[in-house]
Amino acid sequence: MATMNMNMNILELNTKTENVNDVRLTEEVNYTDSELREIGSEYCSHGDKVYADPVPKVFKDCNGVFMYDSEDTPYLDLEMWFASCNLGYKNERIKNAVIDQLETLPQISSHFLYDYKVLLSEKIAKANIKRFGYKGRVQYNVGGSQATEDALKLVRNYTHKNRVFSFFGGFHGRTLGASCLTAGYRYRKPFGHFGDEAHFVPYPYCFRCPYGKKCDSCNYYCVQQLRREFEDNCAGLYDHSSKECAFGAFFVEPVQGSGGYIVPPKGYFKELKKVLDDFGVLFVADEIQMGFYRTGKLWSIEHFDVKPDVITFGKSLTNGLNPLAGMWAREEIINPQTWPNGRTHSTFCNNPIGMRAGYEVMKTFEEEDFETLVANKGKYFLEGLKLLEKRHKRIGHVDGLGLALRIECVTEDGFTPDSKLCHDILAEGLKGDLIYNGKKCGIILNKGSHYNNSITLVPAVTISYEEIDMAIELIDQLFTRLS
Ligand SMILES: Cc1ncc(COP(=O)(O)O)c(C=O)c1O
Repeated sequence: MATMNMNMNILELNTKTENVNDVRLTEEVNYTDSELREIGSEYCSHGDKVYADPVPKVFKDCNGVFMYDSEDTPYLDLEMWFASCNLGYKNERIKNAVIDQLETLPQISSHFLYDYKVLLSEKIAKANIKRFGYKGRVQYNVGGSQATEDALKLVRNYTHKNRVFSFFGGFHGRTLGASCLTAGYRYRKPFGHFGDEAHFVPYPYCFRCPYGKKCDSCNYYCVQQLRREFEDNCAGLYDHSSKECAFGAFFVEPVQGSGGYIVPPKGYFKELKKVLDDFGVLFVADEIQMGFYRTGKLWSIEHFDVKPDVITFGKSLTNGLNPLAGMWAREEIINPQTWPNGRTHSTFCNNPIGMRAGYEVMKTFEEEDFETLVANKGKYFLEGLKLLEKRHKRIGHVDGLGLALRIECVTEDGFTPDSKLCHDILAEGLKGDLIYNGKKCGIILNKGSHYNNSITLVPAVTISYEEIDMAIELIDQLFTRLS
């Protein structure tokens, strides 16, 4: 009896949450920027992108659409952690959901079931039934590259083909499998032979059409070229006697992200999909960067009236509060008979903090009309950029879809890509010595593109019209200073 009482006490005790006030925290970390750089330079690997800048910028705080440096100078952030925080930094609603999850079920092994994993999957699956008309399922993993890996596995598992198409300028991640689809050779160069490198196809980058055509009269010449390759029995894509394709899928960024926020013409993907359907190739939409209302729709592919077979997503799924990514696929491809347990898994793939944040993000998007909101803000932002394009000769092209916007830096001739100007503008913004309304500030911008000359603008969808005005004014100041 005594033993039984003792066991009950243990059970009761362990259900109580510890009082955090009784727990000692590590003393406050208070290093200067230069001390942090010195320690970091000595002990952190330089293999990630931090040391792309030999003097990495240090930030101490963030809120809404601003980052703050150690002197409390605000930097208007138009990069938002590479499009991972579409709902703004320290978003109260998502933050509170995560805090609640921390206090209820913060840890659970990824092979057990719990509420928010199921509820988030249901939300995404039902959102896609509404959009595309068919049922599917969701599989999670910890980051965008891992979602690409899982999508590659899914395609191989379903089609028994390991070759895939991808675009010039495409970026799908940096793990070994994902690097096969990421077009730039620099991503693979140090790592030996890649047997499964994708077949890269020109992206509809109409401002610099790879075929020298004009967008309004080309009649999708680039898609016709691809169709010709399929039709040629000796081009390596298709065997016309057995009617078998050598390729399983085409991995598509509906709006190219790292490629420089390039928006294809409206009818492009419909034309491409016809070719893929004719020759039995799956359509995988990589929405890792453009998903979650970046372009004004849950998925950017919705703008193009095409139904994908697979969607990969990540980044803003959790608004940057926990690494979580995943893929959705049509039932036929991902049903439990075709894709049974163990086909993929990772220790943290079903982590509860990420699921809870993701659920709250999806719920937020359901409850407000972000479609109209992002379309209107995007239009307003683009109008401001068009005024700058008129004012500055060194801006060759501006464009955008929703709040995925771009500025191409060019030389005096108005067309030749100028990667140095682009680099200098980003560095100048980070100095934190611009002036807005009489106050010192900075601006955080990112760059991408085939020629390293495009500024990509990735504001939170929660950005206000006043903050958009500020962005236009600061970009104007930068081009005036440097060109
Ligand atoms: C379109 C796209 N796919 C995949 C990835 C890889 O995601 P992650 O960096 O989370 O591995 C990225 C990252 O920038 C991306 O933009």
